[in-house]
Amino acid sequence: MTTYDRIGQTYATGRRPDPRVEAQIHRALGEACSVVNVGAGTGSYEPADRTVVAVEPSATMRRQRRPGAAPCVAGVAESLPFTDGSFDVAMTVLSIHHWTDVERGLTELRRVARRQVVLSYEPVDVVSFWLVDDYLPEIGELAVSRPPRPAEVLERLGGAGRIEVVPVPADCVDGFQPAHWQRPEAYLDPAVRACASGLALLPDDLVAARMARLAADLADGSWHRRHGHLLDRAELDTGFRLVVAEGGGPGGVGRRPGR
Ligand SMILES: C[S@@+](CC[C@H](N)C(=O)[O-])C[C@H]1O[C@@H](n2cnc3c(N)ncnc32)[C@H](O)[C@@H]1O
Repeated sequence: MTTYDRIGQTYATGRRPDPRVEAQIHRALGEACSVVNVGAGTGSYEPADRTVVAVEPSATMRRQRRPGAAPCVAGVAESLPFTDGSFDVAMTVLSIHHWTDVERGLTELRRVARRQVVLSYEPVDVVSFWLVDDYLPEIGELAVSRPPRPAEVLERLGGAGRIEVVPVPADCVDGFQPAHWQRPEAYLDPAVRACASGLALLPDDLVAARMARLAADLADGSWHRRHGHLLDRAELDTGFRLVVAEGGGPGGVGRRPGR
């Protein structure tokens, strides 16, 4: 049983693609006609106007894919079941922090596609987010909170390309961990917490006790005194980064132009 067979039961309900994040990912796919989506989950952010093949290890997640979604094979990033150069782009969205061997998985993305588009986050921003900093510092200790830095991901993908900030809108519809940065009461809902792995992987009683503290802070105004400045903002940089790598692929693996 994979982690997401256990924690992904309600993923399709709580984790719908946010249209602004989706537009940014689709822009990064560029002119690609063929795309492999690794760690595809229920299919969020897959483009409908290109040929897509999805790869996902969890049967629970594969079962929640919409009828008509791209074909999805059971597999892991570390060993992709495709020949070299099968795709124009390999994309992976909020998945690398779950891989058992990130370096090997990234090498596989380069092997099967000319370009790579990776949505991940700066580990330092996980621990500075108010939910973690004030209430659940234990999240920062989890392996899922410590993926390689986006700059390292780009380097491992050959070094050529760019890293974009992916701002999280105040009304973000995808329920990933920092999505509710301006809606603190959302974290009081166990169904919301079940959709974010950092929260779902900690013991329920620990999280419930800390969320009782959050409820008290919301009731007596303490949260607003500390974080009320966030309420005026339309979006926030929570550390999400889109790595758009142009330098990988068979034959050119690891080389930057001019090297
Ligand atoms: C947070 S979900 C993201 C799903 C989807 N990409 C999205 O944006 O909604 C992380 C996904 O990575 C998958 N995953 C975990 N380990 C993996 C691995 N080694 N290779 C590929 N995918 C993996 C999980 O099963 C899960 O579906």
